[in-house]
Amino acid sequence: PPRSLVAPEALFGASRRNSTGFDLTDEETLARIYAARDVAIPDAMPLTVSEPRGKMQDVVNPATGERIARVMMVDAETAARAIEDARIWDAPAEERAAVLRRAADLYEAHYGPIFGILGREAGKSLADAVAELREAVDFLRYYAAEGENCSDAPRGIVGAISPWNFPLAIFTGQIAAALMAGNAVIAKPAEPTPVIAAYAIGLLHQAGVPKTALQLLPGRGSVVGTAMTSDARVAGLVFTGSTETAQTIARTMAANLAPGTPLIAETGGLNAMVVDSTALPEQAVRDIVNSAFRSAGQRCSALRCLYVQEDVAPHLIEMIKGAMDELRVGDPWDLTTDVGPVIDPGAQKEIADYIAANANRVLHRLAAPSRGYFIPPTLLKVSGINDLEREIFGPVLHVATFRGDQLDQVIAEINARGFGLTFGLHTRIDSRVQEVSDAIHVGNIYVNRNQIGAVVGSQPFGGEGLSGTGPKAGGPRYVPRFFTPAAPAASA
Ligand code: NAD
Ligand code: ALA
Repeated sequence: PPRSLVAPEALFGASRRNSTGFDLTDEETLARIYAARDVAIPDAMPLTVSEPRGKMQDVVNPATGERIARVMMVDAETAARAIEDARIWDAPAEERAAVLRRAADLYEAHYGPIFGILGREAGKSLADAVAELREAVDFLRYYAAEGENCSDAPRGIVGAISPWNFPLAIFTGQIAAALMAGNAVIAKPAEPTPVIAAYAIGLLHQAGVPKTALQLLPGRGSVVGTAMTSDARVAGLVFTGSTETAQTIARTMAANLAPGTPLIAETGGLNAMVVDSTALPEQAVRDIVNSAFRSAGQRCSALRCLYVQEDVAPHLIEMIKGAMDELRVGDPWDLTTDVGPVIDPGAQKEIADYIAANANRVLHRLAAPSRGYFIPPTLLKVSGINDLEREIFGPVLHVATFRGDQLDQVIAEINARGFGLTFGLHTRIDSRVQEVSDAIHVGNIYVNRNQIGAVVGSQPFGGEGLSGTGPKAGGPRYVPRFFTPAAPAASA
């Protein structure tokens, strides 16, 4: 069978297991985490071979608006020098795998500072921080297992540009895959989250990744990102972020880099869920609320447009409102908080303006703290996905209704928008699961569950169309993309 259909155990044996994480219902575990996460937040400095140059800037806690640390935002010359200094990681694959596994162990051992930084810098709830650490560790171990038996050649210098919403997991996953193929990596974290990036690179260096093979360049996308994507010495680029930025990067690369330089781009989505009249309402409502509002809706996978079959819609929408009322919006440092802040004042204003412009569509809205960058979870009535102008990256859910005979039309409408990241289906009609799965054009389909939180190694994650280029992260085709393709065998 294709490798993706083989159970992970069959591929990796007992040597690869997903991280077990932490049981947050256990009081001793919680006490241990609380004591360990309350650390002083260090400044985020570039980690480069040559002396970096740049300007110091504040790093801010989105839950309070207060400065928690400072970051050096490097200039374009520093980026060019880092590229000059970069050297491929010329060690046997087993040695690189052993170093990545050591890094995974170090990440797990340093859970306290990691949870502290993720909570303060990225506004992550403890549950989200635990999930994020698990995913980062899983990427390290999974890509180590995937690459350790490969003897292909690295591409050279790979640029890794990441978003703030998974500032440890996605940041680490990109780097781990590129390193496992022996490349030299230049990593650029997103502007709001440089501290966790610098902390992670420190652990990777401590584990044994050579400093010439892994450098960190905190800085602006328009400065450092552009320097990386326009330098002809860069042999590959891995990017996660918005569709618009991916398109800009693709244009810059096409104008400046060698033809065929690969761009792996994982981007945004207008993700839908369909709930038909046979669905179990309680289960559907729990999954809808988690998919739309967990992580304050700041997941590329999050549910944006819910379609409910009209026979059950009034009842289900009332239940959604009731479930929203149970959500606690506030400081993510508090264990009882369900919905934390959005990342910065720019995001807060953009989402608040969008809600204000759609005030006549608001079906339900919660209250939110006035201090910090909060957006109250909001439910908007729409006629379908075409009413969504763009991806709104926050706790805003749109709901539409459809007649029983309109399901094909709904699926066609979703496909026609051109995004293709996640899709959810709640139904108890078995044949419908297959029909809809065959018809919908997305990377990840979730049936009778929530549509967030793909698990490395068992649910490779990535989109199609405007949502990404593939290969899927956390899947068997990812690491091979970072090697130089083997030359075709000479014909006789
Ligand atoms: P963004 O596109 O604004 O920024 C992403 C990164 O690109 C940042 O590091 C930024 O500094 C950099 N960048 C910006 N302009 C650049 C340029 N001209 N050249 C090079 N780099 C540049 O995205 P964001 O706000 O950080 O993240 C949120 C977005 O990411 C959402 O659209 C979300 O859906 C998407 N996302 C997708 C996935 C996925 O797996 N598909 C996962 C997480 C987030
Ligand atoms: N991999 C993340 C999720 O599935 C983005 O939610």
